[in-house]
Amino acid sequence: MSAHVAVLMGGRSAERQVSLTSGRDCATALRVAGYQVSEIDAGDDLVDRLVALKPDVVFNALHGRWGEDGCVQGLLEWLQLPYTHSGVRASAMAMDKPSSLEVFRSHGIPCPEGSLTTVAAVNARDPLERPYVVKPPNEGSTFGVRIVRSGDNNPPISPDWQFGDQVLAERYIPGRELTVAVMDGKALGVTDIRTVDGFYDYDAKYAEGGSRHIVPAPVHKEIYAQALDLSERAHRALGCRGVSRTDFRYDDTGGEPGRLYMLEINTQPGMTPTSLVPELAAHCGIDFPSLVQWMVEDAGCAR
Ligand SMILES: Nc1ncnc2c1ncn2[C@@H]1O[C@H](COP(=O)(O)OP(=O)(O)O)[C@@H](O)[C@H]1O
Ligand SMILES: [Mg+2]
Repeated sequence: MSAHVAVLMGGRSAERQVSLTSGRDCATALRVAGYQVSEIDAGDDLVDRLVALKPDVVFNALHGRWGEDGCVQGLLEWLQLPYTHSGVRASAMAMDKPSSLEVFRSHGIPCPEGSLTTVAAVNARDPLERPYVVKPPNEGSTFGVRIVRSGDNNPPISPDWQFGDQVLAERYIPGRELTVAVMDGKALGVTDIRTVDGFYDYDAKYAEGGSRHIVPAPVHKEIYAQALDLSERAHRALGCRGVSRTDFRYDDTGGEPGRLYMLEINTQPGMTPTSLVPELAAHCGIDFPSLVQWMVEDAGCAR
């Protein structure tokens, strides 16, 4: 009999809609790969549903808080259900940008200069010379990310900010947007993401025609190799499992080769067939059903 896979999707985070799309697409591909599949929209009854279904493996297609930050991973450890992607610690560290950036820096990985501060402090006085970027310490999909430019008159953080008191302020890195997928500890390739105004915001990420992906990224070959190496090191430094995706800014404004800066590692990257990780896997000859099948085979628990 084929293995029974429960696909977790939706959930409570700001990235609920994105996760529903990832989850449905993964469920379809898993059926193509021959698995028995149950789709679960992760709500208050999640534990009861998992206990009743008794799946062999949980495919975690959640994004954002609760699903990407170690919470659901801890629950699955407790239930002893093998699950895809990273474990509790790596997920929690990756979701908390100040923590993961600290680890990256301690491993010699270049990141933008920046610090954790508060909404009140930023609005009282610029924490860095403009332009700089403010972002919530633990969101995704560019929610809350704002570029503060010289000449902006409004307070850097507007009253409708919904992400708590803490703010990560970073030097704005001009140039290009690169991303790297890592699968089984090996980097698959580098994508150059082209957007209309150079800011990879929510619409650029998900709206039709919002961005263009160039694979392999047409950058200096030293930079290409460096991006692969830094991504594998970041994946290892946090102890990630399965697939991850690392986002970079590449400052080539002074000519090539320029300088790479790691922004973050995503332990639950987007998983529609046209998302960045599946696209890089396809570039390496791994089609979408084969990718999700590998992820299920790679699933595990700490105990
Ligand atoms: N320091 C920075 N300099 C320039 N652009 C940035 C910087 N930080 C974030 N951005 C822009 O905002 C996007 C989202 O930021 P990121 O740190 O990756 O958070 P998220 O978890 O929301 O994806 C980036 O892809 C990039 O376009
Ligand atoms: Mg990002």
